Amino acid sequence: MQMAVTRRPLISGNWKMHHDHIEALHTVRDLGLRLKPEDVARVDVSVHPPFTDLRTAQTLVEAEGLPIALGAQHCNDHDRGAYTGEVSPQMLARLGVRYVLVGHSERRQLFAMSDELVAATLRAVIKHEMRPICCVGETEEERGAGRTEERLGAQLEAALAGLAPEVVATMVVAYEPVWAIGTGNAATAVDAEDACLFIRQRVAALVGEEAAAALRVQYGGSVNPANAADYMAEPDVDGLLVGGASLDAATFVEIVRASQPVARRH
Ligand code: 13P
Repeated sequence: MQMAVTRRPLISGNWKMHHDHIEALHTVRDLGLRLKPEDVARVDVSVHPPFTDLRTAQTLVEAEGLPIALGAQHCNDHDRGAYTGEVSPQMLARLGVRYVLVGHSERRQLFAMSDELVAATLRAVIKHEMRPICCVGETEEERGAGRTEERLGAQLEAALAGLAPEVVATMVVAYEPVWAIGTGNAATAVDAEDACLFIRQRVAALVGEEAAAALRVQYGGSVNPANAADYMAEPDVDGLLVGGASLDAATFVEIVRASQPVARRH
């Protein structure tokens, strides 16, 4: 028997390597002024600035009680050690970070992040009681060859195999087709739904129906205020991972407003 589950949408802004700490201060303050209680009554919002901005953002969010969860874009899979240039998940947890992107396609493609390292990093994030946003997605070539589901399935299996269902239930998976990232060539809502449903079904096969029904699945790739509502109207799209359109507070808030649910029950 399947349990009734309501998934609270999560709208995340991945700033990538944009906004220094002064710009972060202005952007987070602007977001805090614009987000009204009704905007966040049924939707969670996270921002993922560069590491050098996190302390500034944390101070502002905590001092002013802003309804924004702090996120990071990546971390190392070790707590400490001789890993020059890396940032530890323990350090992020100490800063009040709640969500960490793991295995973003830019990390996989530009920094050779393997499926094994994605899995180890996921576990490190979970160990420090933060929530991973595990990013998966196919390239244009894979899609053209009809291998989208094969690719998504392999990425999910490598990342999630062996995790306890109750842990997976608290996680987020982001479906980000590589060809849609930063191109303006957004997936159609139907294609996004198909992939998000496939992800949920594969997670159910890996760890069980109950965890899969609770897991939040985001879509990311050229999301903007005009297309956000279309994705969010789909039953298996539980949130959005927004790049370029999250850099400006007013635009990001428009996306948050366009994402008002639509309670999801399965
Ligand atoms: P864009 O919204 O700029 O396409 O980026 C998507 C993304 O990679 C978010 O992680």
